[in-house]
Amino acid sequence: MNQPQDTTPAISVRSLVKTFGRGAEMITALNNVSVDIRQNEFFTLLGPSGCGKTTLLRLIAGFELPDQGEVLLHGKEIAHLPPHKRPVNTVFQNYALFPHLSVSRNIAFGLEMLGWDKAKVTATVERMLELVKLEPLANRMPDQLSGGQQQRVALARALAPEPRVLLLDEPLAALDLKLRKDMQLELKRLQDETGITFVFVTHDQEEALTMSDRIAVMSNGLIQQVGTPHDIYYAPETRFVADFIGDINIIRGEVNSTSDGSMQVTLAGDLEMTLAGTASVGQSVAVAIRPERSHFAVVGAPETLSARVTDNVFFGAGTNIHLMLNNGQGFIVRIQGQESGCKPGDTVAIAIERDAAKVLDN
Ligand SMILES: Nc1ncnc2c1ncn2[C@@H]1O[C@H](COP(=O)(O)OP(=O)(O)OP(=O)(O)O)[C@@H](O)[C@H]1O
Ligand SMILES: [Mg+2]
Repeated sequence: MNQPQDTTPAISVRSLVKTFGRGAEMITALNNVSVDIRQNEFFTLLGPSGCGKTTLLRLIAGFELPDQGEVLLHGKEIAHLPPHKRPVNTVFQNYALFPHLSVSRNIAFGLEMLGWDKAKVTATVERMLELVKLEPLANRMPDQLSGGQQQRVALARALAPEPRVLLLDEPLAALDLKLRKDMQLELKRLQDETGITFVFVTHDQEEALTMSDRIAVMSNGLIQQVGTPHDIYYAPETRFVADFIGDINIIRGEVNSTSDGSMQVTLAGDLEMTLAGTASVGQSVAVAIRPERSHFAVVGAPETLSARVTDNVFFGAGTNIHLMLNNGQGFIVRIQGQESGCKPGDTVAIAIERDAAKVLDN
């Protein structure tokens, strides 16, 4: 119980720069990226198309070499190791199964290439088939499997050699929503059961929030923020992170006074709140508030923002009430169910939950 834990990161990415092309054509795919990924962590790279997610995975796997910077695996420099010598395996988006080999043979093939003896290969294949619940389909060929089943074979094949790190590049992108949700839970279970460090790539924010221990949000070759799903959702540091993940209100505030890491800020020219931050007096700041963390209050009540209703939008699980604040900025309050009790043109008061307002860095 009291043994010291090995806290060496599974992966340390240090100041990685990767460009493609030359001169005017040059693209900076990674622009000085650093991050530590912990052992046994489910770590997700989240960001829009082209932000550098696949490039970062390929550098960790060794399919590409960096222009600058380094990758350490469990504390060891690995620049000199080719992909197949790294204790890392990759699951690609298109599964890339061997079409002429059965499910079992797909899993066994790589192990035989590694020189494992026959008994160990057979036992491992059986264990993997059980892990991904494909025992009954062991002898099928890939073209006799559904997309989700093929995905599970690809996973079993990647897990079989017991890599210390598994890289997964949008492995669920091709699946329909229902299967995708099932596979999300299954992947999480596999990661728990095997204790392998997972680095998972997606551009789907809900998927990232559901599955991850921590998330790195990327844009334009940069990591914008690393944090738990809760941090990323409720305490975004930048406008990009706030905007990328779910619906959010971003409203203007004016800093009235400051003391020791906190500030008095007037929101939308209307409501003064104490917020964390270090901007200077007179500065204008952007303040982010999730729609579900603000509520209607009695009109004229203290500590509320005044607003006018512009629209009610029912979306199944709830309703978004669209409002206009005194300063002309839009604002959304989310309620459960369909009965908001207000209609366009009504004047309402908005109370904001304690700690729900977050000043953005930029
Ligand atoms: N081999 C290459 N040659 C030239 N440019 C490349 C190459 N690979 C990637 N890029 C460029 O580098 C940037 C990052 O690409 P990358 O594939 O890492 O993005 P991504 O975040 O994985 O996007 P997606 O979500 O679309 O898969 C893009 O602008 C892309 O066009
Ligand atoms: Mg990609």
